[in-house]
Amino acid sequence: MTNKSTPTKNRGQKPKPPVKWAGGKMQLLKQFEPLFPRKEYNLYLEPFVGGGAVFFHLLPPAAILIDSNAELINFYQVVRDNLDQLLQDLEKHKNTKEYYYSLRALDPGNLSPVQRASRFLYLNKTAYNGLWRVNSKGKFNVPFGRYKNPRIIDKDNLQLVAEALKGVELLSGDFSRVLELAPPGAFVYLDPPYHPLSETANFTSYTPGAFTREDQIRLHRVFAELDQRGCMVMLSNSDTPFIRTLYSHYDIRVVSARRAINCRPTGRGPVTELVVRNY
Ligand SMILES: C[S@@+](CC[C@H](N)C(=O)[O-])C[C@H]1O[C@@H](n2cnc3c(N)ncnc32)[C@H](O)[C@@H]1O
Repeated sequence: MTNKSTPTKNRGQKPKPPVKWAGGKMQLLKQFEPLFPRKEYNLYLEPFVGGGAVFFHLLPPAAILIDSNAELINFYQVVRDNLDQLLQDLEKHKNTKEYYYSLRALDPGNLSPVQRASRFLYLNKTAYNGLWRVNSKGKFNVPFGRYKNPRIIDKDNLQLVAEALKGVELLSGDFSRVLELAPPGAFVYLDPPYHPLSETANFTSYTPGAFTREDQIRLHRVFAELDQRGCMVMLSNSDTPFIRTLYSHYDIRVVSARRAINCRPTGRGPVTELVVRNY
């Protein structure tokens, strides 16, 4: 497999990320392009896949995608395996406040995989700022976004997404699972929730399940283990002294991002971010 952006699927047309996602990497792809591996790789792994901007750009023929968000992974599985039923179910949604809150109140555990995926996409496109945020009990709690005409069903793009996901392994779980799955010669792209620019800001906005400093250290250990195994590893993170020190033994590049919604608490405006690589 090469890093070349020649899609082996979709005959030249690339899908766009089908969901709005905090920390999405669409706008950084141009700056990433020269940083992707030049060498061939046998498998692509992305354990914080989110909206999948990098995966949908590279379109590798063999891939494993992981995210801790089970609703997101179920959505991708349904798009891959059951797109027709999903498209049919999506037709039922209405863009009203009452309908939004009635769907938000449903427990996804009581729904079929198709209904769960349909609810997920509807909430993603109509919730305030496209955020996906859950409370301490794991319940989605973002208010109605009041968008005039949200594009909930983009059939052409969902078809491209389904095609890109054919044969791709989709797993819901912790990023550390890559250690069970990555063979030497694989390319692993890591895009965790960012280390906050200000620890104080993070402390006040702390929510259970947040990605902590300990998680960043745990991730660094995974990076180092994959490196020793002979994988090519690329990581995105915020430009902070903590991250620069943690990864000081590796190649560190700076990219510039304009962020509207963000994994980080400071929110808006152009900021520098880091790309760390072991190759
Ligand atoms: C910065 S976002 C990734 C954005 C993605 N690259 C894109 O272009 O949309 C981080 C992702 O990590 C996921 N996540 C958070 N903690 C995780 C964990 N411990 N293991 C795996 N995924 C996790 C979140 O659900 C979120 O989708």
